[in-house]
Amino acid sequence: MPGSAIRLPSEGLCRGEVHIWLADSVAMRAECERMTDFLSDDEIIRLGGFKSVQAHDTYLVGRVTLRRVIGRYLDCDPKDLRIAAGQHGKPILVEQRQRAQVEFNVSHAEQVVGISVARRPVGFDVESTERCVDIGALSQRVMSVAERAAIFSNCGIEAQRSCFLRYWTRKEAVLKRDGCGLSRDPTGIETAESMTQCGRIFSFAPRPGYIASVAGSEMLTTISLFDPAHGSEPTGIVPVMKTKIPTIGRSHGGPDAW
Ligand SMILES: CC(C)(COP(=O)(O)OP(=O)(O)OC[C@H]1O[C@@H](n2cnc3c(N)ncnc32)[C@H](O)[C@@H]1OP(=O)(O)O)[C@@H](O)C(=O)NCCC(=O)NCCS
Repeated sequence: MPGSAIRLPSEGLCRGEVHIWLADSVAMRAECERMTDFLSDDEIIRLGGFKSVQAHDTYLVGRVTLRRVIGRYLDCDPKDLRIAAGQHGKPILVEQRQRAQVEFNVSHAEQVVGISVARRPVGFDVESTERCVDIGALSQRVMSVAERAAIFSNCGIEAQRSCFLRYWTRKEAVLKRDGCGLSRDPTGIETAESMTQCGRIFSFAPRPGYIASVAGSEMLTTISLFDPAHGSEPTGIVPVMKTKIPTIGRSHGGPDAW
């Protein structure tokens, strides 16, 4: 079957691990277009409704890659996976037996598409660090008092922006892990600490020019990055215990090789 090119690490997915599969929607578009028979009728209808080429391509690459990747973890055909939206829109596996084995979450920013996979509920968010944001207005809307103080204690707009985007992706990751989206007030979620009451949050730079955060369970110990075009060797490992933001490079080549 065409999806068989995705290769999982031989040690599989441990309980404390999150695997992140990072794809480039421009590089993978043609390949994914040949695999649209993996998609459900609903996904095909949604794909046909995008007005912007970039939104179309990120959805195409996101859904095809999601099905290929999850199909490998569950050892089943990508097109047989039944994916539905939860109460607030979080895509979930319909079959309880499959959902008990693997959890996932999708995020895209510009042409980067990321799929996080774990044994326990996981949320993932990636943003471009070039993204145009009104830090003042958005901080009022989504940040807690402590986060606003931390953001504006930085000297200079670039440092403030970088701090803002870090908190932003951490909040999104928590909201996405819990599946509640914006039905929950983001100002009530404190994201400065890595270990929270409900689990662990970790931030890193998956590629130059991007920041990403993962929210997992309290068991989260390792985040491994994979490239669906290359396979079973991680392209980077994020040691979750560190507090600074590491930049991820490929194990075989520099970050530019993405
Ligand atoms: C939809 C939302 C979950 C994330 O949106 P986003 O950051 O714009 O987009 P991302 O690319 O990171 O994530 C989109 C993916 O999340 C998934 N998703 C959608 N709703 C979700 C939910 N309730 N929970 C978890 N995941 C969800 C979907 O897979 C979606 O991709 P798809 O439509 O291609 O399948 C939601 O949080 C939102 O609308 N955010 C808007 C931004 C904002 O105001 N954030 C304030 C909080 S800091």
